[in-house]
Amino acid sequence: MEPPSIRHTLTSSVLFSFFIFLFHHSAAQPPDADGYTCSTNHTADPCQAYVFYRAAAPGFLNLATIADLFWVSRLQISRPSNISDSNATFPLLSGQPLFIPINCFCKSLNASVSISYANLSYKINHGDNFWQVSTFKFQNLTTYQSVEVVNPTLVAVDLPIGIDVVFPIFCKCPTHTQSQNRVSFMVSYVIQPTDTLPSIASRFGVETLDITDANRPNPEPFETIFIPVSRLPNLTQPIVVSPSPEQALVPVVEGKNRAVTGLAIGIGIVGFLLIVVVGLWVCGVGKRRSKEREMEEGVEKQRVQDIGVWMRKEKGKQIEVDLMADVSDCLDKYRVFKIEELNEATDGFSESSLIQGSVYKGSIGGVEYAIKKMKWNAYEQLKILQKINHGNLVKLEGFCIDPEDATCYLIYEHVENGSLYSWLHGSQRQKLNWRTRLRIAIDVANGLLYIHEHTRPQVVHKDIKSSNILLDASMRAKIANFGLAKSGYNAITMHIVGTQGYIAPEYIADGVVSTKMDIFSFGVILLELISGREAIDDEGGVLWMRASTGFSEGKEKLDRLRSWVDEALFEQSCPMESVMDVMNVAVSCLQKDPMKRPSMVEVVYALSKSDDAVFEFSDDTLSDPPLAAR
Ligand SMILES: *[C@@H]1O[C@H](CO)[C@@H](O)[C@H](O)[C@H]1NC(C)=O
Ligand SMILES: *[C@@H]1O[C@H](CO)[C@@H](O)[C@H](O)[C@H]1NC(C)=O
Ligand SMILES: *[C@@H]1O[C@H](CO)[C@@H](O)[C@H](O)[C@H]1NC(C)=O
Ligand SMILES: *[C@@H]1O[C@H](CO)[C@@H](O)[C@H](O)[C@H]1NC(C)=O
Ligand SMILES: *[C@@H]1O[C@H](CO)[C@@H](O)[C@H](O)[C@H]1NC(C)=O
Ligand SMILES: *[C@@H]1O[C@H](CO)[C@@H](O)[C@H](O)[C@H]1NC(C)=O
Ligand SMILES: *[C@@H]1O[C@H](CO)[C@@H](O)[C@H](O)[C@H]1NC(C)=O
Repeated sequence: MEPPSIRHTLTSSVLFSFFIFLFHHSAAQPPDADGYTCSTNHTADPCQAYVFYRAAAPGFLNLATIADLFWVSRLQISRPSNISDSNATFPLLSGQPLFIPINCFCKSLNASVSISYANLSYKINHGDNFWQVSTFKFQNLTTYQSVEVVNPTLVAVDLPIGIDVVFPIFCKCPTHTQSQNRVSFMVSYVIQPTDTLPSIASRFGVETLDITDANRPNPEPFETIFIPVSRLPNLTQPIVVSPSPEQALVPVVEGKNRAVTGLAIGIGIVGFLLIVVVGLWVCGVGKRRSKEREMEEGVEKQRVQDIGVWMRKEKGKQIEVDLMADVSDCLDKYRVFKIEELNEATDGFSESSLIQGSVYKGSIGGVEYAIKKMKWNAYEQLKILQKINHGNLVKLEGFCIDPEDATCYLIYEHVENGSLYSWLHGSQRQKLNWRTRLRIAIDVANGLLYIHEHTRPQVVHKDIKSSNILLDASMRAKIANFGLAKSGYNAITMHIVGTQGYIAPEYIADGVVSTKMDIFSFGVILLELISGREAIDDEGGVLWMRASTGFSEGKEKLDRLRSWVDEALFEQSCPMESVMDVMNVAVSCLQKDPMKRPSMVEVVYALSKSDDAVFEFSDDTLSDPPLAAR
């Protein structure tokens, strides 16, 4: 039984021209597209192998669906992948790395050729074809050519719904020599455009040479390679702030003044070892000595790395001295509040003065402040905020340390009109008009431009989202919550933090911190402003994923855009050209490849141009809106 040659099948197919396009398009098609050959005699029995898989929308953002796809249990994925919660409904982040076990067989296709693969059965759904399932669901861990080779009796263009097809997931078993060199598994890994072999090697804790020896020379992006490992590397899984707490914040009740104000989000993740450690130093003055003794050497090393940006010193003692000096720096720059003042202003931190999370509103000396209570010291925030001062950033006015219960407070300017999140997704009766939205976009862009380009070292906010954008009395926007901000750029972090729906894919996948991740999140904000939809909807659908498909070309683009735009904007007959301009900016900010995203300078320029256009337009066509930003 000779499988039909690929060309034969294709020429007879209706999809002929489509595949011709593919062939031309990807001259890069690897020579192993049919599968990776093996010799039957060393693996008569299956061997254990793993694939490296990235959780992805649409559809593959929870363990249950991924486990079903690979015919394994959720626990079989969560254990090797270092995920503590294997609950079916536990949402994964797009790009989150997973190790999935597979059984790897060496099977003969005909008298002369054998290829090694895991034979996964897949039930064809409506709209599925070999190419789509291989490329997206199995993420290029197989190719449609190989599927055709393994299923010689099926006609690719005429697949009955519900039929079972074997998808040959590429894998390899360790050779005899590799086994002798303590290789236990070969991990199937699909090369990403941003990867280099050394970066892959370091991720898996192997030598680059081990990878090149086990694979064909110069593999192309999206080709599967095999990484020989003696044990699976430890994956660090992202810690993610779920967007749900903000949803509780929404309602603004009639009669009550706009209470949804101040700092939009709670304290975020204070999981940072750094903050904890520094917190112990600064807050728990009395406990400092004993805590210090407890610190193990490993912790010490990590800490030094983390704060290396600030002080490139090697010994803990020296750092401590520096730190105390730095705090006294802060003491000079900020007003230091007394805990009694705060207690009085907030009625003893009563429910009624609670804005949200751990942020309270209080009036001290006739001035309103937002007071954020922190369990640990926010030294990073202090350090970063003292360097920055810009109209589009929420201003830190002072702080307070309460040595009694080792609590610190940051006191910010009070921003009257609450968060952009509550304006867009809350039950506000008044909807923001387009000009206001555009102004908000420009304000946020200017704030980001400032921290990215005009601070040294650069600051990356890391948690740009609509609930961290506050609106003042004249609806100008300010960026709040530098709780996760980091200075320095292109740092790699092991502590992945941020908010689902806004985090840039490269950060989840590799922990790369750069200004480009803020630009990505900013793109999500633009989508929210245009569509009025949330970054993640109730079903867990990710807004940016939906925008990234099919907004690129043609005249259908305008139609698609119309179906996206917030209905409230149509009612105000907003200028579609301007919306289209902003959509274009959003799409470019949301490029998967961080290098392709524009800089904030370009973004500000593009948005301001659009604003000029709207402004002219609005002079004669729009009545002055109630919420206008002028
Ligand atoms: C089996 O493997 C041995 C050494 O690994 C090789 O010499 C031999 O040719 C192989 N036999 C077949 C049938 O492939
Ligand atoms: C899984 O999640 C559901 C709903 O979120 C919850 O009711 C259930 O207790 C969870 N199960 C485990 C084992 O955590
Ligand atoms: C065996 O199968 C491979 C892959 O389909 C094909 O290229 C090759 O020509 C076949 N060889 C024989 C002898 O049929
Ligand atoms: C995969 O191959 C094994 C061994 O040949 C066989 O037992 C199993 O039924 C196959 N599974 C599928 C889905 O074809
Ligand atoms: C698989 O490879 C194709 C190019 O051959 C690429 O367009 C596609 O995005 C890849 N799929 C995934 C999930 O990376
Ligand atoms: C992974 O973690 C385990 C236990 O936490 C440790 O023993 C092992 O050395 C780590 N492996 C790697 C490759 O870091
Ligand atoms: C598992 O992930 C957590 C972060 O999610 C990390 O702190 C921990 O070190 C990881 N465990 C191992 C064994 O790598």
